[in-house]
Amino acid sequence: MGLNYYKIKKHIRKARKLVIKSTTVAASGHPGGSFSMAEIMGVLFNNYLHFDTKNPLWEDRDRLVLSKGHASPGLFSNLAVAGYFDESEMETLRKFGSRLQGHPDLKCPGVEFCGGSLGIGLSFSIGIALAARINGKNHRIFTIIGDGESNEGQVWEAAMTAAKYKVDTITAILDRNFIQQDSYTEKIMPLDEQLTGDDLSEMWKDASRWKTGDKWRSFGWNVIEIDGHRIEQLDKAISQAIATKGAPSIIVARTIKGKGVEHMEDNPKWHGKAPDHEIAPIIDLELDCQFMIAPSIIAGDMTNLENEVKRCVNGRADYIHLDVMDGQFVPNKTFDHTKINELRPITEIPFDAHLMINEPVKHVRDYIDAGSDIITVHAEVCNESSFGEIYDTLKQNQVSVGLAINPDTELPDWSFKFIPTLDQLIVMSVVPGKSGQKYIESTHEKMTRVVSKLNEHKFQGYIEADGGVTLENAGACFADGARAFVGGSAIIGQSDIRGVIREFRDVILHTRRRMLLQKANDLGGSELVNRWIDLHSIGKKKDELIRIAKELEHT
Ligand code: DX5
Ligand code: ZN
Repeated sequence: MGLNYYKIKKHIRKARKLVIKSTTVAASGHPGGSFSMAEIMGVLFNNYLHFDTKNPLWEDRDRLVLSKGHASPGLFSNLAVAGYFDESEMETLRKFGSRLQGHPDLKCPGVEFCGGSLGIGLSFSIGIALAARINGKNHRIFTIIGDGESNEGQVWEAAMTAAKYKVDTITAILDRNFIQQDSYTEKIMPLDEQLTGDDLSEMWKDASRWKTGDKWRSFGWNVIEIDGHRIEQLDKAISQAIATKGAPSIIVARTIKGKGVEHMEDNPKWHGKAPDHEIAPIIDLELDCQFMIAPSIIAGDMTNLENEVKRCVNGRADYIHLDVMDGQFVPNKTFDHTKINELRPITEIPFDAHLMINEPVKHVRDYIDAGSDIITVHAEVCNESSFGEIYDTLKQNQVSVGLAINPDTELPDWSFKFIPTLDQLIVMSVVPGKSGQKYIESTHEKMTRVVSKLNEHKFQGYIEADGGVTLENAGACFADGARAFVGGSAIIGQSDIRGVIREFRDVILHTRRRMLLQKANDLGGSELVNRWIDLHSIGKKKDELIRIAKELEHT
C-alpha cells in the first residue's frame, strides 16, 4: 500500500484554498491555526478516519475532536473536501443561520465537539473512549489540541486521567506551532523553554530545548515527535500511535502557524485575522504554487544507493525519485523493484518510481509491493487499455499515478480521459537513459502547449520537471508550470545536498515571489504591490520582495 501522497497533497491544497475563500468572505476567522494543522487533517481524513458522509452519526465512526475549536475553517474545509457538504457552503462561514460557525457546532455534519472554550476536548475525548469501552465498541478518537491551549490546567488533568485509565483508543495530536493569540507560546507560558527576544527560529534550531514531549511522557503517555507538515511522518506516527496498547498516545507535531502562505508563516498577527478581498486571489495563486524537490539517486554512487537515500533524507528532500531503467525501453539498466524493496525500510520518505521500462502493465504490481508511493509510466509504452489497468491498480493501492512523455512525444489523445484525476505528469527534458545530460531548451515551448491541454482537461495534479534541471533553469521550469523538481547531477552529484536543496528552494521561491508580485500588479497596480510587500513583516522576505518589485518596476 502506498502513502496516498498526491491525493493527500491535493486534498490539503483544496482545503487551504477553502480556508482563504471562507475567511475572506466572512471577513474574520482563524487561518493561522487552520494552516498549521492542514497536513495533520489531510492525513487523518485520507488515511485514517472511518466515517460515512451520508450517515454522519454512524455509531462505529471514528471521532475527530477539534479541541482548538477556533481553527474551525481548517475543519470545515476538510469536511467539505471529504463530501459532508458542498464546498460552496464554506462561503456561509460565520453567517447567521449557517452550520459553519466561528467555532465548530454540532449542527454541522461531521463535527463531534463544540470547541471554542479551550482545554476541554481531551476530557471530552476520554468520555467518548470510556463510553465506547463500556459499550464494547472499538472506534478510535483523534483529538487535536493547540499549544496555546495547553495553558489550560484541564489539559493536564485529562492527561493524568487518560493515563490512569489506559485509554489507548485516543490519539492526541498537539499542533505545536509556537504561537498563540497574542504572541509566542514560549513567551507567554513556555512548554519547552522561555524564549527571550522575538526570533522564533531560535526554538527550531536546538532540539535539546524541546521539553514538551518530556512533559507528556512524565504523565504516562506514549509520545511521538515529528515534523507536522510531512505527510509520511504523520502517517507513520499515527499508525504507531494506533498500534500502541495500554497507554494513550500523543503526537507532538512541530508545525508552522500560517504554513503555506509566506506572509502568514510564523506571524502571530494571523492567528485570528482574515485576508482582505484584494489580497485573497494572490494568496490563492500562492497556494497553487507549492512545490517539491525530489533528488534522483541514480546520479550518485550506484554501488551504495542505501547511502544516497540517507543523504536525501538528511538533505530534507520532499521525496526521492527512483529512475528504473530496464535496458530495453532505454539502453541503460539501473535497478528494479527488488532494489526499491531493499531501500524501503531505510526511511518513510515517499518513493517516486519513474519506470523507464517496456510493458509497465506487466510489472507495476511489483513496484507497488516494493513500497513505491508514486509510480510513473511512459506514454510511449502504454495505450488506453493498459494505462487504464495501471491507473486502477495504483489507485486501489493508494499509489499516486504518473504519466511521462519523452521529448518527442506529445500527450496522446487516449490520455485525456485520465487527466482530470492524474496525479503527476513528467514532461521529460532530456532523452531518458542517463543522468547528467543537458536540458533540452525547446521543452519550455512544449510546456506551453502541454499546459494548455492540461488546463483544457482540468488537470489537478503536479507537473514534474525531470532531466537536466539545474539551479539555473529551475525558476524557468517553475514558471512553465512545474511543481516538482527532479535533480540528479545537480543535487545528488553535489557534496552538500542539504545546502543545494536549500538553494533550489530559494531560486524557485524567487520566481514564485516574482509571479505573485506580478499578479498583485495586474490586480491593483503599485498600491496593491506595496500592500502585498508590507504584509511580509517577519524575517527577510520583505527585502527580497522590494528588490524584485524594483526589478519589475512595480513600485
Ligand atoms: C533521465 C532520468 C532523470 C535523470 C535526472 O533518464 O529520468 O531522472 O536521471 O538526472 P539529471 O538531473 O542529472 O538529468
Ligand atoms: Zn526520472
